[in-house]
Amino acid sequence: MQGRRIVLGVSGGVAAYKSAELVRLLVKAGAQVDVVLTAGGARFVTAVTFQALSGRPVWTDLWDARANNNMAHIDLTRGADAVLIAPASADLMARLANGQCDDLLTTLCLARDCPLLVAPAMNRQMWQHPATQRNIGLLITDGAEILGPASGEQACGEVGEGRMLEPEDLFEALLDCFAPKLLVGKRVVLTAGPTQEAVDPVRVLTNLSSGKMGYALAKALHRAGAEVTMVSGPVSLAVPRGVNCVQIKSAREMYEAVMQHIGHAQIFVAVAAVADFRPEQAAEHKIKKADGTPEIQLVPNPDILSDVASLPNAPFCVGFAAESRDLESYAQKKRASKRIPLIVGNLVQNALGADDNQVILFDDAGAHALEHGSKELVAQGIVEHLAKLLA
Ligand code: PMT
Repeated sequence: MQGRRIVLGVSGGVAAYKSAELVRLLVKAGAQVDVVLTAGGARFVTAVTFQALSGRPVWTDLWDARANNNMAHIDLTRGADAVLIAPASADLMARLANGQCDDLLTTLCLARDCPLLVAPAMNRQMWQHPATQRNIGLLITDGAEILGPASGEQACGEVGEGRMLEPEDLFEALLDCFAPKLLVGKRVVLTAGPTQEAVDPVRVLTNLSSGKMGYALAKALHRAGAEVTMVSGPVSLAVPRGVNCVQIKSAREMYEAVMQHIGHAQIFVAVAAVADFRPEQAAEHKIKKADGTPEIQLVPNPDILSDVASLPNAPFCVGFAAESRDLESYAQKKRASKRIPLIVGNLVQNALGADDNQVILFDDAGAHALEHGSKELVAQGIVEHLAKLLA
């Protein structure tokens, strides 16, 4: 976001107060934000608030004489990286869809030469109205990206679709918009998190995977333009925007879900820490302490990555290896035994549950160390390497 120039259009809606928070997030991340308020938007939040948060003048009038050439509608968008309208009211979208330019915001949208993102916010009936849906269709045809809306409780007290996305989601949508589309058109299946193997109705065998690495990679793959289906074990993370998630518990459920979706995938990424073994038979009832120390017979789980790599039309397979020592030799052995072109090696003591990671990628050309950093940054590096291998 550093150095990006965003024009933020704010039209009339209660959600305008959330746009103040969005400005704060963008400015904190190093973006320059020019806020354009419509007459309706100014009824909800004043220009003073946006000026204080953006540190820049706020624009409200098509005839504003502050622009040297008196053409704010041109000047504001030249050099801008994106125009985002949040909230976008039903009226604003109707005017935009019809190419009207009767105020500064609609005029600059017509005069712009950068992407337009629109975050609708309105009552659920207004959102569902055929006229609004028709206007949305026109805006999409004209190349605008529609963000949301979300569903939930509305300011009017009704519940339904029409809530503006949260500022964090809009921030992410802008990042998605700016990311290089290295994997556009690729379908990816990815596994993430731990698996849980039932011992009895209340106990499981599992591990300490938090899912952070897998979720970061799913997000980076989606951001690069791929269509991502993530098969996830039980974790407490939000599914990244735009990623299709299948929730499972056991390794066998993960296996079934992967095999169900792998048919059309060009890439398979196995980040999950899959339990290698499971109890042969989960007890039907809770095992009682009074019955003495139980003897639990373990049997091996299917190896999902090996089986996907052996499919007749196998996708490009990326494995992970979490080791506590001798990373290179263990990772290379796993790459060879699973017959996969790329494996990502990391040390458990650095990776498991942590926010950061340091990885080495092993492929036919040798070892490639990526810089230590947040899992988001590491995921971005993995995506870039993967895209080079597929090019
Ligand atoms: O979730 P986090 O807290 O962010 O931690 C991330 C991580 C450490 C779990 C992740 O970065 C990682 O290294 N995942 C792989 C864990 C591992 O070592 O797996 P493995 O060595 O058991 O298996 C090697 C590969 O085969 C992995 O790609 C694994 O997903 C896959 N596998 C393993 C067993 C099995 N039955 N099926 C599989 O698909």
